[in-house]
Amino acid sequence: MPARVRAMIEERAEAAGFSALKRAAGELSEAYREGKPTRMPAADHVAAYLVTRMPATWAAARAALGEAPEWNVASILDVGAGSGAAALAAADRFPGARDFTLVERDPSLADEARQFLPQARVLAADAEAMREFPPHDLVIAAYSLGEMGRDLTEALWAAARVALVVIEPGTPRGAARIALVRERLLALGAHMAAPCPAAMPCPLAAPDGCHFAARVERSSLHRRVKDGELGYEDEKYSYVAVARQPAKLGGARVLRHPRHHPGLIELELCTAEGPRHERVTKRDRERFRAARRAAWGTRFGGVTTVTETGAGEDPGPDSHGQS
Ligand SMILES: C[S@@+](CC[C@H](N)C(=O)[O-])C[C@H]1O[C@@H](n2cnc3c(N)ncnc32)[C@H](O)[C@@H]1O
Repeated sequence: MPARVRAMIEERAEAAGFSALKRAAGELSEAYREGKPTRMPAADHVAAYLVTRMPATWAAARAALGEAPEWNVASILDVGAGSGAAALAAADRFPGARDFTLVERDPSLADEARQFLPQARVLAADAEAMREFPPHDLVIAAYSLGEMGRDLTEALWAAARVALVVIEPGTPRGAARIALVRERLLALGAHMAAPCPAAMPCPLAAPDGCHFAARVERSSLHRRVKDGELGYEDEKYSYVAVARQPAKLGGARVLRHPRHHPGLIELELCTAEGPRHERVTKRDRERFRAARRAAWGTRFGGVTTVTETGAGEDPGPDSHGQS
């Protein structure tokens, strides 16, 4: 996250005081584990949310957007924006964006978003009560659709001039929601951009579903509040990114941390033909080099299709999907 935002979060945390922060963080964690919607009963909860959750959702959104193509994005709409983590991640990924609109029903989180994104229009509003959303190049809904009773997929897609990205927690429930959103969007004529290698029916069955992990460096305060020993945590997330224009697809998506052995790397992949376990040996020198660079969530293997239907160039064994 931008250093400016991290410094502002430290200030909020200091104002709350350590024991209040720790108590509020515990309550938020419990609510999150139980799948309850985000609620901020007091200022301490807002501070705890900023310290413990916002860096993680920022990291997930940034990682998902990092796998998206080089879209031309001048405006961004973030729905269920919280304190603005996804909008900030999108601003980092698409530095040309100048016009930001955030919709957030919790007034205290909306206030935080105004501080972090002073250039944004922040609407403290219930997204479920909105018939339609103002059109923007990129529309993003991160960790928010799962909290809503009404399905906003179609309305969000209608507002997306260039692309729509939906992110949910990397839990079985979150992954199942993303699978449903993906199916609806493809039926509405959206073009797959990431993470799938093609617009085929999703072959990844419950309970695991399709999910990835983003590494989050923990501040020392974050570590103390969470009683964590490690200097990092892995935030699991599921996502789908679709666009108005066809993107370069193909290759495969790496579905787990690759397993390294002497002279052998094992990869769990999702391909257009379904999940595949691949053993890459040193004998296949180029592919082995590509496998060494592969990581959970990256694209592996050449881009063989330009659109979901047409064939195109093959730039080599480890294109990482930036088209
Ligand atoms: C888990 S937080 C995620 C916030 C942010 N998108 C992020 O990635 O950090 C979910 C957010 O969605 C908001 N939300 C849930 N239902 C909403 C609704 N109907 N209208 C507007 N915001 C909503 C909640 O208030 C909360 O701030």
